[in-house]
Amino acid sequence: MSGRGTYYVTTPIYYVNDVPHIGHAYTTLACDVLARFMRLDGRDVHFLTGTDEHGQKVEKAAAAAGLAPQAFTDKVSQSFRDLVKTMNFSPDNFIRTTEKRHYAACQALWEKLVEAGDIYLGKYAGWYSVRDEAYFVESETEVGSDNKRRAISSGAEVEWVEEPSYFFRLSTWGDRLLEFYEKNPRFIAPESRRNEVISFVKGGLQDLSVSRTSFSWGVPVPGDPKHIMYVWLDALTNYITECGYPDTGNPLWKYWPADLHMVGKDIIRFHCVFWPAFLMSAGIAPPQRVFAHGWWTNEGQKISKSLGNVIDPMELVDAYGLDPVRYFLLREVPFGNDGDLQRRALVGRLNGDLANAYGNLCQRVLSIVAKNCGGKVPAMGSISEVDMALLDRAKALLGIVRADLDDQAFHRALTSIWEVIADANRYVDAQAPWALAKTDPARRDTVLWVLAETIRRVTLLVQPFMPDSAGKILDQLAVPAGERAFAAFDRALVPDTVLPKPQGVFPRFVEPAKAAS
Ligand code: MSP
Repeated sequence: MSGRGTYYVTTPIYYVNDVPHIGHAYTTLACDVLARFMRLDGRDVHFLTGTDEHGQKVEKAAAAAGLAPQAFTDKVSQSFRDLVKTMNFSPDNFIRTTEKRHYAACQALWEKLVEAGDIYLGKYAGWYSVRDEAYFVESETEVGSDNKRRAISSGAEVEWVEEPSYFFRLSTWGDRLLEFYEKNPRFIAPESRRNEVISFVKGGLQDLSVSRTSFSWGVPVPGDPKHIMYVWLDALTNYITECGYPDTGNPLWKYWPADLHMVGKDIIRFHCVFWPAFLMSAGIAPPQRVFAHGWWTNEGQKISKSLGNVIDPMELVDAYGLDPVRYFLLREVPFGNDGDLQRRALVGRLNGDLANAYGNLCQRVLSIVAKNCGGKVPAMGSISEVDMALLDRAKALLGIVRADLDDQAFHRALTSIWEVIADANRYVDAQAPWALAKTDPARRDTVLWVLAETIRRVTLLVQPFMPDSAGKILDQLAVPAGERAFAAFDRALVPDTVLPKPQGVFPRFVEPAKAAS
C-alpha cells in the first residue's frame, strides 16, 4: 500500500485551562486508530496532537491557580501528555503553542496575510466569550433570566469588548470558500456539518478580529507588539508549524496538506471557514478533510464542571481496562453522532462483544489446539466449501475496514469485524472440532487451522483499535512481529509452528460489589 504515500492526521490542540476529560480522549483516540491503521497499511504517517496554551481563558486559569501563565501551562500540558500514555496513543509529536518555532510560524503567516492585503487595523466593538474564545454578533447571543448575556450555541457568557484590533477581510472570502467546498465535496464531514457550514457562509461573512490589546498572553503581532494574535489564528497555525512552516523545504513539509483534521462539532467553524480562508490568503493549500464528531453526555446529562459529572478517562480505564474503553467509545455510537456514556452499556459490550464473542472464540480454539495438536499450528487438509466461506469473509475484511476508515466510520468497521467473529463462533459450533478428535483427526486439524487463520486475520485488523490485546492474541498465534502489518494479511499461518500456552485476553467484568460478596 506504500504507493498511497503520506498520511497526516491531527487532533485539535487542547486548552490547558483544565485537566483532560473524556471528550479529549475521544478525539485523540479516533486519530490514534487512524494513525495505527494507516501505518499498518504501509502509509508514511504523521500523527500530531498537543496543547493550545495562549489566550484569555488560559491566562485567567493561570491567575486563578496563582501561577505565571508559562508555569501553569507547563503543568497542565503535562497532564495531556500523561493521557497519551494512559490511553496508549501513538502521536509522532506533541506540539505546544508556547514553543519558539510556533511563534515564528504564526508571525510568518501573519506577514503573508498582510502581503495579501487581507489585514487592516480597526477597532472591535462587540461581544466576546472567553470560554469559547470566540466573537459573537448580538443575534447569536441572548440574555438569560439572571440578566447575563450568553452565546446561544454554547451557553457561555459573553462580555462587551471595545479595543483597537487588526481585522482579517473574511467578508471577501465567501465566494471563494463556497467554490472550494463545491470542488472538494469530502472537505467537511459528516454531510450534516457540511450543510451547516455552507449555509453559514452563504449567510454572509463579517471581517474577523484577529488581534487583542487588552491582555498579553499570546504571540505578538509583527511590528505592533501591543497587539497579540487572536488565539484561534495562533492555534490553527500549529498544524503547519509542525511541518516546518515557513520553511517549506523542511522534510516534514511533505505531510502538508493534512489528510485529516479531526475536531469536535463545536469547533467546525474555525476549521472549515477561518482556517481555509487564512491558508488560501497566504497561498497555502487547505487541508483535505475536516471531520466533526459528536459530543458525549454522561448517563443522559450534559457533561459540565458545575454539574460535577466530568468523566476522567483515567478513572474509566482503571475501572474497565484500557482496550475495552477504546473499543466501547468507537463501537457504541455511529461516529459523527452524539452519544451517551452509560456504564451499563460499556459492561454489556465488554462482556458481550469482547469476553463472550471474541475472547471466547480465541480461548476455545487455542485451548483445543494446545490440548489436541501438540501446541502447534495444526495441519491444513482439504478445504471444504464451508471452510472457504469463512476464510473468504475474513479475507474480504481488509478492504471493508479500509473503506470504512477512509470515511471515519469506526463503528461500521468494528461491526464488520465482529460479524466475522460471530460467523467463526457459529462455525466452531457447527463443526464441533472436539467431537472430531476420535472420528476424523485430520478434519479436526483442518477446522482448527481455518479458525486460527480467521482469528489471525481478524486480529490483524483489531490492532489499531485494541493494540495491547491484539498483540497478545497474535503472540499466542506466534505471528512474528514482522508479519503484523497488512502487507502480510494474505499470508497464512504455517502448520507446525510452535505456539505458546494460550491465555485469556478479555476477562468478564464483574461488578466490584458483587465480586466482594
Ligand atoms: N483549543 C481548541 C482547539 C484548537 S485546534 C486548533 C479547543 N480545545 S478544547 O480543549 O476545548 O476542546 C478540544 C476538543 O474536545 C474539541 O474537539 C471538543 O469538541 C472536544 N470535546 C469537549 N467536550 C466533549 C464532549 N463532551 N464529548 C466529545 N468531545 C468533546 O477547542
